[in-house]
Amino acid sequence: MANTLQRREFLMTAAAGAGLLVLPSRTVFGADAANSKLNIALIGAWGRAMAHYDGLIHENVVAICDVDEKHLDVAAEKFPKAKRYVDWRKCLDHKGLDAVVICTCDHTHAFITNWAMNRGLHVYCEKPLANSVEEARVVRATYLKHKDKLATQVGTQRHQYENFNRVRELILDGAVGDLKSVCAWGNRQLPRPGYLPAEGAPPKTLHYDLWLGPSPEHPYNPGYFSGQAGANCLSWNMYWDFGSGQVGDMGSHTMDLAWNALDAGLPTAAEGTGDPVNPEVTPVKLQMTFQIPANDWRPALPLTWFQGGAMPKNPNDEMDLNKIDHGAMFTGTKGVLVSGFENRILLPNNEDGDLSYYKHRDKEHVLPRIHNFQREWIDACKGGLKTSCDFDYAGKMIEMMMLGLVAYRAGKAVEYDGANGRVTNSPEAEALLCRKYRKGWTLNG
Ligand SMILES: NC(=O)c1ccc[n+]([C@@H]2O[C@H](COP(=O)([O-])OP(=O)(O)OC[C@H]3O[C@@H](n4cnc5c(N)ncnc54)[C@H](O)[C@@H]3O)[C@@H](O)[C@H]2O)c1
Repeated sequence: MANTLQRREFLMTAAAGAGLLVLPSRTVFGADAANSKLNIALIGAWGRAMAHYDGLIHENVVAICDVDEKHLDVAAEKFPKAKRYVDWRKCLDHKGLDAVVICTCDHTHAFITNWAMNRGLHVYCEKPLANSVEEARVVRATYLKHKDKLATQVGTQRHQYENFNRVRELILDGAVGDLKSVCAWGNRQLPRPGYLPAEGAPPKTLHYDLWLGPSPEHPYNPGYFSGQAGANCLSWNMYWDFGSGQVGDMGSHTMDLAWNALDAGLPTAAEGTGDPVNPEVTPVKLQMTFQIPANDWRPALPLTWFQGGAMPKNPNDEMDLNKIDHGAMFTGTKGVLVSGFENRILLPNNEDGDLSYYKHRDKEHVLPRIHNFQREWIDACKGGLKTSCDFDYAGKMIEMMMLGLVAYRAGKAVEYDGANGRVTNSPEAEALLCRKYRKGWTLNG
């Protein structure tokens, strides 16, 4: 258990670095050497969290945390020995933790993630990883500081579909020639006029102030809590103080199809157009274009995100992209690749469909399959630390997407210095890189 020992040393260094007094509580810190199980806290214990129950049951779920005690009751049926918390800050101090799984609302993801990594904990965080450019950058920086000791994964579990590998191989191997442009789109539309008005009082089981967490005060309304388990995010994620609408929601999954095939760095510029800007609600219709720098195998190119009715042009008269709810398209000098999450189609440019320029990979050289995305992270925590959507890969992607929203809100094309996280041509846009937090909440505690 070399990894366990490394983590013990790391915990002391990390605690010292973050100015925290956190000391290991057990002689054998971390995964129990006898049975190799991780001690996990599940934060946000109902809804999306339920999709993690069966994967986590084989580990030691020692703590469950939820702002709604009714939801803790549900999780406690599955994890009866776990200690219950309503405040994630206290939960992270649970003795002997190795790792956390975060399934709370978007506006708390970056907070819990940073705090957990600063305490030497491995993190699986549901998408989207962050709710602003600043949050994305802080999470990525914290991760990069500790990446030799921590396993991280953002919950874009569709990444395990074999199609993600096939698309990457096709692009790397030149199936569309030299890449000219790439786009991804999604068609989910959830229009709302503004924050919900005050209505009634929170149920006794719900700690509403903790639900608001770092976000500015908004009155309670049961409408934020009326969705089915696993879909309640669609009751709050379109409001700026709680989420980023479809950009962070399906955008996290669908842009991943493109991002996985591009080896992209941060964009040098971004622009966004769509519905008129509403200070309370994120746009339904939106188009954001990013200028992605060249790398050692492809040229610089524009990467565009379309949503809510904005759509890319069909590649030919026969193909109607509207029939693909969420997809990506790669346009090159020799052809076009159109992909959904699980399937793809290659359209060569030439009329006779000649593909002789492209050599298909033999079986020995195809990219390795991810058998189970959540399991990939658990295995990584126990050794190796390697995951497919770590906070560097996914952190850069969400930083780009959040920058697009900045350009959209500022109403102008922004130039971006990704090394320093600065908008270089617009102080108004630069001010939008961060969110405002309520007093008492620290992003990187
Ligand atoms: N990967 C996927 O396919 C997928 C699918 C659905 C949802 N999600 C993501 O999962 C997250 C949760 O979505 P949901 O639909 O389950 O939402 P939800 O509103 O049902 O919240 C999930 C749980 O978290 C609890 N919670 C909220 N804030 C908390 C806090 N500060 N501390 C502790 N508990 C808190 C809620 O009470 C609830 O039990 C969202 O970020 C969403 O984007 C991902």
